[in-house]
Amino acid sequence: MTNGHKRDDLQEALATALNDINAESGTLMLLDEKKGELFIKTSVSKPGSQPLSETIISQTRVKLDNTSPSGLVVKLNKPLLINDIEGLKKVFPSLTTIANPKRYKSSLLVPVDTPNGPKAVLSFSNRSDNKHFSEHDLNLAVMLAKYFGAALKLERKNLELRTFNNVIQKINATNDLHNIFKTIVSSGKDMVECKNVSIMLIENNNLIVKDSSRKSIIGQSRKLGAGASGWVWKTGEPLLIKRAEDSRKERSFKPLGKPGSFIVVPMSISYESPFAVNVSLKSNATIGVLNFSNKNNMKPFTDEDLDVISNFANLAAVAIEKVKFFLETKRAYLSTVEALAAAIDAKDKSSYTHLKRVVRLSLELADKVGLSEKEKEDLHFAALLHDVGKIGIEESILNKPGKLTAEEYARMKKHVEEGVQILSNAQFLEAATLIVRHHHEQFSGAGYPDGLKGNEIPIGARILSLADSYDAMITNRIYRAGKSIESAKEELKRCAGKQFDPSLVPIFLKIIDANIPAEKKSQI
Ligand SMILES: [Fe+2]
Repeated sequence: MTNGHKRDDLQEALATALNDINAESGTLMLLDEKKGELFIKTSVSKPGSQPLSETIISQTRVKLDNTSPSGLVVKLNKPLLINDIEGLKKVFPSLTTIANPKRYKSSLLVPVDTPNGPKAVLSFSNRSDNKHFSEHDLNLAVMLAKYFGAALKLERKNLELRTFNNVIQKINATNDLHNIFKTIVSSGKDMVECKNVSIMLIENNNLIVKDSSRKSIIGQSRKLGAGASGWVWKTGEPLLIKRAEDSRKERSFKPLGKPGSFIVVPMSISYESPFAVNVSLKSNATIGVLNFSNKNNMKPFTDEDLDVISNFANLAAVAIEKVKFFLETKRAYLSTVEALAAAIDAKDKSSYTHLKRVVRLSLELADKVGLSEKEKEDLHFAALLHDVGKIGIEESILNKPGKLTAEEYARMKKHVEEGVQILSNAQFLEAATLIVRHHHEQFSGAGYPDGLKGNEIPIGARILSLADSYDAMITNRIYRAGKSIESAKEELKRCAGKQFDPSLVPIFLKIIDANIPAEKKSQI
């Protein structure tokens, strides 16, 4: 039986050990370092002997003192061999943790000691042949304990790796730098079990605290060269100080105000990385440092902690640079698209503010109906570029004061497909192009170019159609005055289910109301 339901590797190993020792039952208890108590990791009994119940397994907690054999063994780090119940009661008068006192004959306990590994105790009860445990059994148990030490260490390593992978996946899944900093700090704390973690990035030749478990230092700036962080950034070397004296001996940097053990690791990006071209500091690919201090168990940080954190810091650095690169590229795209949109708008003689309003209203509606960040971004591009095809339409048609002839209208409708043609080579506009293609579709199916109906029309296009039509209604043109907001709203209501998605119209009307300045509202 174990805390889990599947028979795991440790349980298999314990069953084998039970046979080797020829005992009726065996238990492996592990130290919960935070609570300073032992708990049952796994327990195995031979067929015919009564196994520990699930309740005992899950509820047993043993303090590291001389009130129980297992606590004492871990406390003293020495094996214990007891061969009669009277002896047991004499040494441990207040003993309550013995599972089957009536059946108790003898017990053998050995500490599982692993350097830098978890503390544990391996115990065996009652020899199957009713004999006492011998010195030979004791020696065998000591050897088996070494095996369990290694197995536990591996198990912890696996857990570390799994946590590590989860964190990296989490960091890679977001394009929000603020979130990345938060994840680095909180997972860093868990990974090496310490109280204080902070991330510092280089900005204008200073190290700036971007996030920290100590909120008061966020945003603070440290001059390069001062303190351990600056030294680590400059040299690109990780630093592990195990004792306060070590940091005082070290002359390369000023000792920090906080005594005790700490770790500072550089966040470095290898020049081979595809993102290295985007590193702002050409001579140094270290973008910042991670600081760790105050280990939870008050012990010094270990070389293993340093290993885990060094790898973590480098992967985190790549993730940060990737997001910075992504955001810069996005900004560059957006300004190109805005310039293009402004050029088309100039030709169409409508104002650029009209376009900006369509963008804002579309994004507000998208937000209200719960579109994802990516969908909103595509809609943003589409709202700016929806009429890009008008660039090829004659100005005499575009700005014609009167009603268009059937032929002119057919020509005008072509702006949709011509727009799609213009955008088709830009891969980053693929999803936006689909919205552009369908921004003149109607909910009833009467629109163009494909006559799509209802939900066949992409949600972005349904939103854009509503925002664009509304804003066109209220905008003054050379040849006609814009409608009042109130009559535009009536028109939207009238066309709900025909031109527009009826589920979007009421939400959009609320957005219009919220956008009308107070003084204008009183005029309506
Ligand atoms: Fe259009």
